Amino acid sequence: MDQMQEPLIITVDGPAGSGKSSICQRVAERIGFTYVNTGALYRSIAYLASMEHIPLEDERGLCKLAESFHQYGQHDPDSGNIHYQGTLLNPYLYTEDLSWKASKIATSAPLREALLPVQREWALKCRHGALLDGRDTGTVVFPGAQLKIFLTASPEQRAYRRKIQLQTNQPSAPEPDLSSLTEDLKRRDQQDSQRETAPLRQAKDAIVLDSSDLTIEQTIEKMAGIIRDQLGIPV
Ligand code: C5P
Repeated sequence: MDQMQEPLIITVDGPAGSGKSSICQRVAERIGFTYVNTGALYRSIAYLASMEHIPLEDERGLCKLAESFHQYGQHDPDSGNIHYQGTLLNPYLYTEDLSWKASKIATSAPLREALLPVQREWALKCRHGALLDGRDTGTVVFPGAQLKIFLTASPEQRAYRRKIQLQTNQPSAPEPDLSSLTEDLKRRDQQDSQRETAPLRQAKDAIVLDSSDLTIEQTIEKMAGIIRDQLGIPV
């Protein structure tokens, strides 16, 4: 990236289980952008709060933790690995318990405020450009992003994909129950879209990509096509 040039920013927001992380990671790789998974940041804070026995309702405690994370946390722009005080957090972040805890702490306005600079720094540390995914990356974190995509899918499809993801991540765990996963997702959707601060919603200038009837490969192709058409980036 040219020293004086602002990096290109692409944001992808959407509900839980819409396939954002797997799709965005692959698309970012393909276009040579840094991938920033902002959900992993909320999950990291929820995980560390559990480890440090900070109650999820303790906003002051969570904000202090976020400040400490800002100072001692590290994001590897190539692998997406997140370290805090020397510990790699990624292997601990993808349980249903943490999904819910992350969504719970994400309702706190002061915590969201404290995490804004972290997300912006992670993205701006990129080499060519950054592709972020989350809930408010196009509405709050980078409202001036050059391209905003809203990635969505039906709740049933999203629950099915989450089941496959859980089975892949924890092959020895008991088989997840699809109907309770669907209920959990709906509950999390509701919490994410009805909170007062930075609720999940489609930015006015976002392009909608509905992946309900698409495979991962087809969704990647569609997203790559949108990026090529909108930004003129060869994909
Ligand atoms: O994307 P993921 O499902 O990993 O995110 C976990 C939780 O973190 C979400 O349910 C949401 O409540 C919160 N989150 C958020 N804003 C973001 C990213 C994630 O509120 N930008």
